[in-house]
Amino acid sequence: MHNLIRRIILSRLPEGPTLQVQGERIIIVDYCNASLDMHLELDVQHGYSFNETIFVHPRLRGQGYGRALVEAREELAGELGLTVLINKNRNPDFWRYMGYEKLGRIRQMYLGNKLGIGFQPHSMYKDLR
Ligand SMILES: CC(C)(COP(=O)(O)OP(=O)(O)OC[C@H]1O[C@@H](n2cnc3c(N)ncnc32)[C@H](O)[C@@H]1OP(=O)(O)O)[C@@H](O)C(=O)NCCC(=O)NCCS
Repeated sequence: MHNLIRRIILSRLPEGPTLQVQGERIIIVDYCNASLDMHLELDVQHGYSFNETIFVHPRLRGQGYGRALVEAREELAGELGLTVLINKNRNPDFWRYMGYEKLGRIRQMYLGNKLGIGFQPHSMYKDLR
């Protein structure tokens, strides 16, 4: 599983940042350097990816790095049959543009209990199962 994650991330993203993949039930993926940062947590048992953050340094924005980060994670989620939750949404316009949909309050409460995670306002999701 960890090798599959490394293969997908590294095949789609620029070299330079370091990639760490750790954990067993919750697999934590960190891909970062001073200019690019992506963190995500995969719960393959329950079928969800969550607690994601992505960051592109302001001087590199508008050149496709943000899309590359999102698409690498979406390929991974598709391969593993996961629904992606943007439960810490700091940029609703970006996620809406990338095809994510609003996650209703009742579903937030249900998933919060099931997965043990918190949801901020404007939480969104994309089903890649
Ligand atoms: C959001 C962020 C990751 C985008 O990174 P980026 O490298 O500039 O993104 P890209 O150049 O790959 O743009 C991808 C697409 O998203 C669009 N886009 C970028 N920022 C957008 C925004 N705020 N709202 C709507 N669409 C946006 C671009 O127009 C582009 O469209 P296209 O591929 O169809 O031409 C970057 O601005 C950032 O790090 N922001 C601060 C942290 C943040 O908001 N993270 C996301 C929430 S956790």
